Amino acid sequence: MATVLSVSGSPSPTSRTARLLRHLDARLASRGHTVTPLDARDLPAQALLSADAGHPAIVRAQALFEQADAVVVGTPVYKAAYSGLLKALLDVLPQHALAGKTVLPLATGGSTRHVLAIDYTLRPVLSSMGAAHIVQGWFLLDRDLVAQPDGSLRIEAGAAEGLEQVLDQFTTAVEAPRVRAPVGCATRRRTRTVREAAPQAARTSPAPRPPRS
Ligand SMILES: Cc1cc2nc3c(=O)[nH]c(=O)nc-3n(C[C@H](O)[C@H](O)[C@H](O)COP(=O)(O)O)c2cc1C
Repeated sequence: MATVLSVSGSPSPTSRTARLLRHLDARLASRGHTVTPLDARDLPAQALLSADAGHPAIVRAQALFEQADAVVVGTPVYKAAYSGLLKALLDVLPQHALAGKTVLPLATGGSTRHVLAIDYTLRPVLSSMGAAHIVQGWFLLDRDLVAQPDGSLRIEAGAAEGLEQVLDQFTTAVEAPRVRAPVGCATRRRTRTVREAAPQAARTSPAPRPPRS
């Protein structure tokens, strides 16, 4: 079973993104994975803003990334991109902090206008940090995430269905047997490619064009 780091990049104390991640954490834990939540908003702001990679709290966060086999990265969409807080966290990590890891990118937003924000802003950064496999991302509208009085989260039917599909792809990738890497290379998990794994209705990327006749 895998060690999964579940990172929320929302600065909000009542974050829907963080609630969504905690909801998924429970699902991943029920499959036998060890899940560690990390809220970027709990890290010292001064250390993040001054890129103080030696601050003890930042060093601990770096260690969590290093120990993880897989990472769930959730962010609210801010100004058509991922949050500045998430960027500040990613910036204090080593360049290849995601090497060999499977990553699930998630975003919440107020409008479907920015449904592609994961693909055109976050995915390239995750890739530049060495992620071995970035599975299909998923965007949820904030109004589809309804906090319940007991602290749990209700996800509206249409959004929940797509989320299930990307979670399935992520767990399949995480649970796939490791392929022995050549000496000197990061160990990678053998997974389907993003294109093979992409569901028809749930993608955040444009659908591939049909072949020309
Ligand atoms: C400063 C700010 C900028 C935002 N910009 C966008 C945006 O460009 N596109 C969008 O769809 N939603 C935008 N939103 C809405 C949030 O993405 C949305 O409410 C999200 O679910 C908030 O997540 P959180 O509760 O985890 O912080 C913005 C919200 C804030 C506070």
